Amino acid sequence: MKHLIDILDLSTEQIDGLIATANDIIAHPEQYREKCHGKKLATLFYEPSTRTRLSFEAAMYELGGQVLGFSEAQSSSASKGESVADTARIISCYADIIAMRHYKEGAPLVASLHATVPVINAGDGGHNHPTQTLADLLTIQKEKGRLHDLVIGFCGDLKFGRTVHSLLNAMSRYENVRFVLISPEELRIPEYLRQELEKNGISFRETQNLEESLPELDILYMTRVQQERFFNEADYIRLRDSYILTSDKLKNARADLSILHPLPRVNEISVQVDSDPRACYFKQALYGKFIRMALILCLLDIQ
Ligand code: CP
Repeated sequence: MKHLIDILDLSTEQIDGLIATANDIIAHPEQYREKCHGKKLATLFYEPSTRTRLSFEAAMYELGGQVLGFSEAQSSSASKGESVADTARIISCYADIIAMRHYKEGAPLVASLHATVPVINAGDGGHNHPTQTLADLLTIQKEKGRLHDLVIGFCGDLKFGRTVHSLLNAMSRYENVRFVLISPEELRIPEYLRQELEKNGISFRETQNLEESLPELDILYMTRVQQERFFNEADYIRLRDSYILTSDKLKNARADLSILHPLPRVNEISVQVDSDPRACYFKQALYGKFIRMALILCLLDIQ
């Protein structure tokens, strides 16, 4: 049984294969319209989502398959106390593949241990978000033409931002990649990730200063401060506007900078920036659909 729970479940060769398939889907969509005929995807979302759930659903429809599922825990039997393990066993009777988002770290892993169909982690708490990372990698590959020899700035909530954690892990495997980690003191990357970077000899520095860091970056990965992970509303309000990217600040950035954001955006990128040719975040959301199509085909072993 193949699952995708952590981005490191995939080798760099497998990621290259998914990117190649996504590019082929973009170039020849008509060749993929019936690939999943007769197959069903279950989207089990215990937490809110716009991009991930709907891009998975669009992906399955565009492959000729069908979709079932729920978009909030309250409308499922989780509200009556059913476990993730039991839910995974039951849904395996109804669907060929499962995409699960859950507020608890590790819930999709538990589901994968009890399901008899492939399980995809569509975001688990503040932990990981491997399919967002696949969308990010496709975007970087298309914008830069490479996944190596890059300086990547991560800015914002690096503590709770699961997309940051997954992308750091993924990019750490490529040659000559350096990270600039820009965050308030309270929102620095978790200690376990810092130790991983140090253990693996990855080059990184931590700073609170976005403006000073901008000129050296090939990629700026902005993130939202994750309100839903805070215990204290006052802390969230104090930290939420720590960084706001404006056109004025971008004057010191490279002409070939690529600005990514997993979205949703709240206030951390001014809408003025949307018309800057360096802004890639809406393209990134579109690429998310194509790479999820490639992933569904891969996990279902469909050529
Ligand atoms: N990037 C992302 O995961 O967005 P959603 O929460 O809307 O799915």
